[in-house]
Amino acid sequence: MKPVKVGLLGLGTVGTGVVRLVEGHQEDLQNGSGSPIVIEKILVQNKSKERDINVSLDKLTEDPWEIVKDPAIDVIVEVMGGVQQTKEYLLEALSLGKQVVTANKDLMALHGPELLEMAKRHGCDVMYEASVAGGIPIIRTLIDGFSSDRITKIMGIVNGTTNYIMTKMSQEAAAYDDVLKEAQQLGYAESDPTSDVEGLDAARKMTILATLGFRTNVDLSDVSTEGISKVTKEDILYAKRLGYEVKLLGIAERQDDLISISVQPTMVKNTHPIASVNGVFNAVYVYGEAVGETMFYGPGAGELPTATSVVADLVAVVKNLNLGVSGKNSTVAYKEKKLKTDDQ
Ligand code: NAP
Ligand code: HSE
Repeated sequence: MKPVKVGLLGLGTVGTGVVRLVEGHQEDLQNGSGSPIVIEKILVQNKSKERDINVSLDKLTEDPWEIVKDPAIDVIVEVMGGVQQTKEYLLEALSLGKQVVTANKDLMALHGPELLEMAKRHGCDVMYEASVAGGIPIIRTLIDGFSSDRITKIMGIVNGTTNYIMTKMSQEAAAYDDVLKEAQQLGYAESDPTSDVEGLDAARKMTILATLGFRTNVDLSDVSTEGISKVTKEDILYAKRLGYEVKLLGIAERQDDLISISVQPTMVKNTHPIASVNGVFNAVYVYGEAVGETMFYGPGAGELPTATSVVADLVAVVKNLNLGVSGKNSTVAYKEKKLKTDDQ
């Protein structure tokens, strides 16, 4: 079978994990997708930067168009982050008939419908499992696993950095600034960690989850958002003495045609399963009218957990390519109809 050629945009925390998995699990990927998968070229900002992984220098480029416009590249895997430029690259790649996998929640929360529309027009897939809750396959679960049910509530811890910070503040009385630095060194935080600590990253993820779960188009501006920067160590330790943990919770609820979505620090009774989700772990609770309560748990950020989701998407798009069903079977669930949000 002819190898499928991948252009990787980004070789940071997640990109490094993607290269490790594609090289280390090649046989499994081939069994799952039906083709050998080869990373042909990799976009970086600085070719001469020292890296934790050995990659042949001729694979690296600082010119995005060398990858996006290369007719030999079948799939673009985007793990570079950013919104405007990245959107431009991915729209161009889709218009040229390339499949797209992305871990970029900022992009999907803001421009998901536009990218998915372009993909549909050109018979391509856009998959974005890693954009929410790192290693937990929650996007597939919402689209396929709950396709027979009507979801009325999605609640969870969807940001690993803030959960890591608050866990360390609660369990070790650690100082906020020190733990934030640790989370950055571990590769959990965004390049600008303000979006983690001010709740914007979680709001973007809740936008994606609510869009898929409630089968409607949710806007980021529909999410009422507050981060953890005003939560002090004293607040956390005081709540703990009262039998609560403070968690940054995303809550999306639907009542008939009305939805409400928020992200805010919340006191959670220590007997609730969400209270014991610690460190970089995430958990997403989903309530469906027929199934009742369900909860999904796993690492929410970091190199290999996130790469697991990215590479699972890669296997799926390659399989679709081989079956000739690209763009027909993808994880697309956006609908034109918009439910009302509680501020309308
Ligand atoms: P990162 O470590 O900062 O890596 C970004 C990579 O992209 C670097 O290799 C960088 O090149 C390259 N890059 C950035 N901007 C570029 C530009 N304008 N032109 C060319 N190359 C550029 O980021 P990351 O943590 O891997 O995250 C990547 C994406 O995955 C983001 O969208 C993030 O939100 C998402 N994500 C991350 C995690 C996580 O745990 N980290 C989890 C889920 C989703 P250099 O190496 O030369 O600097
Ligand atoms: N900065 C994000 C987090 C990365 O901490 O959850 C995973 O999306």
